[in-house]
Amino acid sequence: MDTKGKFIVFEGTDGSGKSTQMKMLFKYLAGRGVSCFCTREPTDSPFGALLRSCLTGRVEADEHTIAAMFAADRLDHINNGVNGIKKKLSEGETVLCDRYYYSSLAYNGGFVSLDWVAELNRPAMEALRPDLVIYIDLPPEDGMKRVARRGETDRYETIEKQKKIHDNYMEVFSRFGKGENVVTVKSENDKGFTQEHIRKAVDKLFGF
Ligand code: TYD
Repeated sequence: MDTKGKFIVFEGTDGSGKSTQMKMLFKYLAGRGVSCFCTREPTDSPFGALLRSCLTGRVEADEHTIAAMFAADRLDHINNGVNGIKKKLSEGETVLCDRYYYSSLAYNGGFVSLDWVAELNRPAMEALRPDLVIYIDLPPEDGMKRVARRGETDRYETIEKQKKIHDNYMEVFSRFGKGENVVTVKSENDKGFTQEHIRKAVDKLFGF
């Protein structure tokens, strides 16, 4: 019997509501008796903490360095022997992850060569493909309004960059998403509606 957990990834531009939807899905799955582990990228490891400082500008780093750091943070996230994603999956946990390699392709691949970023992420793609990618689609103008209400912004949170990243997501799903289970869900004003659409895709995955 396959006791391995499922790996579900949330993607989207800033302010799309990924984190909220992921928390709602966690509660739903818990209610169905599915044991879940929630995680995110950049991670909460020392690699991820350094990345967050680079994103806000507290630590200076160029786009190439940042792209390479995201790839490194991701490999540690997958393979870490203490709390890595593979370990959690092998223990039967379903892993919900806020961002994964599509974020690198859509964000970092928009500012340095996309092919190079894809190459950097090849070890992650070969190591672990998601069972389901939920892309939450929100017009960048609406996302930026939500981001502005939150306060501190990072280096990618300008309307010009968000528009570009939004377009990039479409491109990278068509270039790199072949054979992957990518579901696009429109971010509705009512977050319960958005969640209903997500649950349909998740129910299908679990065969509920
Ligand atoms: P986000 O996921 O919005 O987290 P928070 O809620 O803490 O702001 O922010 C993470 C930022 O990192 C976001 O701007 C996207 C960026 N990012 C990349 O550029 N490449 C990546 O590979 C990942 C995972 C994130």
